[in-house]
Amino acid sequence: MVETIQWTADGVVMIDQTRLPLTEAYVTCRTYEEVATAIRDMIIRGAPAIGVAAAMGVAIGVLHAGEQDLDGQVETICDTLARTRPTAVNLFWAIGRMKRLYSSLKGRPIAEIRAALVEEAQRVREEDIAINRAIGRNGAVLVPDGKTVLTHCNAGALATAGYGTALGVIRAARESGKAIDVFADETRPFLQGARLTVWELQQDGIPTTLITDNMAGHFMKSGRIGCVVVGADRIAANGDVANKVGTYSVAVLAKENNVPFFVAAPISTLDLSLTSGDQIPIEQRSPAEVTHVFGHQVAPTGTAVQNPAFDVTPCRYVTAIITEKGVARPPYTETLKQLVS
Ligand code: MRU
Repeated sequence: MVETIQWTADGVVMIDQTRLPLTEAYVTCRTYEEVATAIRDMIIRGAPAIGVAAAMGVAIGVLHAGEQDLDGQVETICDTLARTRPTAVNLFWAIGRMKRLYSSLKGRPIAEIRAALVEEAQRVREEDIAINRAIGRNGAVLVPDGKTVLTHCNAGALATAGYGTALGVIRAARESGKAIDVFADETRPFLQGARLTVWELQQDGIPTTLITDNMAGHFMKSGRIGCVVVGADRIAANGDVANKVGTYSVAVLAKENNVPFFVAAPISTLDLSLTSGDQIPIEQRSPAEVTHVFGHQVAPTGTAVQNPAFDVTPCRYVTAIITEKGVARPPYTETLKQLVS
């Protein structure tokens, strides 16, 4: 399985997701600022992977921090990492976890604090892989045998520390013997589906067909698609789901065609402090991602552009939310709370 992110003696090593699938290159981040840049520039992306990167960013920041005003430096490190991408709540979850550990170590020798934070960041990574395997196990039973699974964006090993959430469900369904194949939406504008999902599933020998985003309705109407499985960047208490832009359209098409629409995500993607998805901040990215395709201009100079990186799928379109602790079904306001407790 591909290594998305690792803690090494040299620094935090990440596979460069801006260069896949044509080049398999690795980036080593030696400072917390470099980790922040890697998250912002999407060298690493996907909600759980962003969380792991943030935890390692805090650890590497404290590892290189001086003893003077350590509290102030930790604040700066955490603020810098928190300002990278606003939508994936796993970023804030991971920073919060590292901050709480730091607070609990107040007054201890700095070497001990550093070692504990480095260990914790590695634990966040290891736990994420175990969580994804549990999500896979819980979701595999829901996948109809002998049909095609449609997915959007990349919620795979590359979007996590390993195995994946949505792609974890697909992997587990295949491991359990189900004869399924995958349709991957290309996922304009950043092409996570075309570049990352197809590449990752090819490595595993899982039969995968690439379609452009606007083909999803055509294939759902054909009866070939057994279910949709996607990941999530943040899930509100009522079950509204923020995920890669285009997910909402897929969900509406799924409902219209009686195709189950599943969301696979760890508990750390739940934000029960928000009553609905309307409160989820949506990242706006550079217009160049829309006007250009990998450096090639495809729209007239001066074109007005909107580029929201995520949309919110209302909970009424979500058949079930698959987590490591079990599967939630409507009414989510009750079932998500139960899962967390
Ligand atoms: O902008 P990205 O590539 O970080 O967006 C990723 C997604 O929307 C994923 O579907 C989501 O983070 C879940 S990843 C397991």
